[in-house]
Amino acid sequence: MISIAFFNNKGGVGKTSLVYHCAWMFAELGQRVLAVDLDPQSNLSIMALDEERLEALWPDGGHPETMSGAVGPLFEGTGDIQPAHIELLTPSLGLLVGDLALSRIEDDLSTEWPRCLEGNPRAFRVTTAFWRVVQRAAEDHGADLVLIDVGPNLGAINRAALVASSHVVVPVAPDLFSLQGLRNLGPVLRRWRETWSRALPSAVRALGPMPQGEMKPVGYVLMQHAERLGRPTKAYAKWQGKLSAGYYQSVLDQVTGDVVADPNQIQMIKHYRSLMPMAMERRKPMFQLTSADGAIGAHQANVQQCRVDFERLCREIAKRVGYGI
Ligand SMILES: Nc1ncnc2c1ncn2[C@@H]1O[C@H](COP(=O)(O)OP(=O)(O)OP(=O)(O)O)[C@@H](O)[C@H]1O
Ligand SMILES: [Mg+2]
Repeated sequence: MISIAFFNNKGGVGKTSLVYHCAWMFAELGQRVLAVDLDPQSNLSIMALDEERLEALWPDGGHPETMSGAVGPLFEGTGDIQPAHIELLTPSLGLLVGDLALSRIEDDLSTEWPRCLEGNPRAFRVTTAFWRVVQRAAEDHGADLVLIDVGPNLGAINRAALVASSHVVVPVAPDLFSLQGLRNLGPVLRRWRETWSRALPSAVRALGPMPQGEMKPVGYVLMQHAERLGRPTKAYAKWQGKLSAGYYQSVLDQVTGDVVADPNQIQMIKHYRSLMPMAMERRKPMFQLTSADGAIGAHQANVQQCRVDFERLCREIAKRVGYGI
């Protein structure tokens, strides 16, 4: 199973929007896709579902149909993970619904992580809870492609989400904060990978099949900045070079490489301005907006451009992770 986390500890760089749009695009390209919302802020679920449905999924009391509900019994000490409810956005596109209550398990995940190195079975169960839920749901849905959205931090929920990921795509914005994000993220990813690979043999001996925790870097997606729309492209060139060097050094642990035609840059994604709020209101991806949705005049050209951009992005990601479409 190919599972791709869209990850950067810098907030607001477009992780959730990318997961949402790529999930829809892969589905349009004929794939069976599972989108997984592991950010307690649940923006992916909010983007995908209307308020009425969210109220039904997040009632007062327990939330059996969310990711929190699926892992709840394990963390509450009343059992193990439960099969997750798959919310179908289309027959081929499923969503594992996020939940603010996920933040309650952060401490437990944090405590159990070092105990994986001691060979502790509960530590393995807890650390791999997301992976096991996702694995089962992907099988049930017949999905071979899983896209995971996480929050903007280097905490224990994200570590468990990354352990469940075979690949990582890093969305970045052309600014100093994103560059610093990359510098934090690279070494942390390597540490997580290294720790899990040391724990893995005893985890497999204790519990059977386990995630490999590969977290292979696929590359970065450069997001255009809203506030930079009117600025000269020189600012972009500057940040592009710095981000490229930062990615080589921090994420790939290489001295540096070609920063002009950087092969690690998967693509640049335009800021589509008012198309995004329109798409969010209609609960559909920007590239599906029609004139009936209000995408008239110049918007239509942007809708078409957006479709071209996302199709190219998804095909390139698929190629890089060795997934034939
Ligand atoms: N290509 C785009 N065109 C227009 N607006 C965009 C685009 N990508 C993202 N946005 C907007 O930018 C904001 C941040 O995007 P998003 O929520 O996807 O980022 P994020 O990295 O998931 O944030 P967080 O770190 O808070 O989870 C949102 O308001 C979103 O609607
Ligand atoms: Mg987000």
